[in-house]
Amino acid sequence: MRTVINKAVEFIEHRATQKKRLAIVLGSGLGGLVDLVENKVVIPYADIPGFPISSVASHAGELVLGQIAGAEVVLMAGRIHYYEAGDPAAMMVPLEVLWELGCRVLLLTNAAGSLHEDVPPASASLITDHINFSGLNPLIGDHRPPQFIDLGKAYDRQICDRIRLAAKTSGAELHEGVYVWISGPSFETPAEINMVRKLGGDLVGMSTVPEVILARKQGFRVGAISLVTNYGSGMRDEVLSHEHTMREAARGSKNMLLLFGALITDLHANPLDS
Ligand code: HPA
Repeated sequence: MRTVINKAVEFIEHRATQKKRLAIVLGSGLGGLVDLVENKVVIPYADIPGFPISSVASHAGELVLGQIAGAEVVLMAGRIHYYEAGDPAAMMVPLEVLWELGCRVLLLTNAAGSLHEDVPPASASLITDHINFSGLNPLIGDHRPPQFIDLGKAYDRQICDRIRLAAKTSGAELHEGVYVWISGPSFETPAEINMVRKLGGDLVGMSTVPEVILARKQGFRVGAISLVTNYGSGMRDEVLSHEHTMREAARGSKNMLLLFGALITDLHANPLDS
């Protein structure tokens, strides 16, 4: 495992030498953030030793390094999911590589279904906590200490506040809620949506939670934002599909880019308390 990480880090650092501070994982329909990156170095995952490649057609599968608003960033344009790999720890190598590249803050994005009428498609929602409804954990079988990870404040309080502030200063629409991870790749049934709403969920999706668990073990400070692409199954008379997700994500991407522009500018100007 170490040699895989070292090889990947060496490969990336050979192509981009800056110190990286801010890592961002881009979910479905969020690839537009790549356009904000200056002095871009783009590396296909396929070229990076040990990097898993997503089979989701809309995920570019590229690491993008450079600056946004003067801040050093590393973007993962695309991610691998549990439902592709059959392994909840599928994102372990990329996240450990980001850590070794010097990233200490990880911002995760995803497309999600909304469980509330007042959180419509194309809006953004800050993830304040999660429910792991998969029964899976990416740390099972990982005996490296620390073995038991506290998730009491998995979503960094200060980062959450900075995201709220960025929404205010940019005028971006931002809701908040608890994200429920269901493995996918099938969407939920209406009965499942009713159940997870009763359990305290506000958003539902197929990613992010295993990444948060892995990232907290690694030591990252984590923030996460959903781009709502649809109401949960059964809330509307519509057919859910990846095409539907991509269409609605495109509608919401302007709001997300506004939010991220303000957030990255602020994080660069006012570093987080240590
Ligand atoms: N369910 C699960 N994952 C999703 C959804 C959804 O409704 N929308 C986008 N990703």
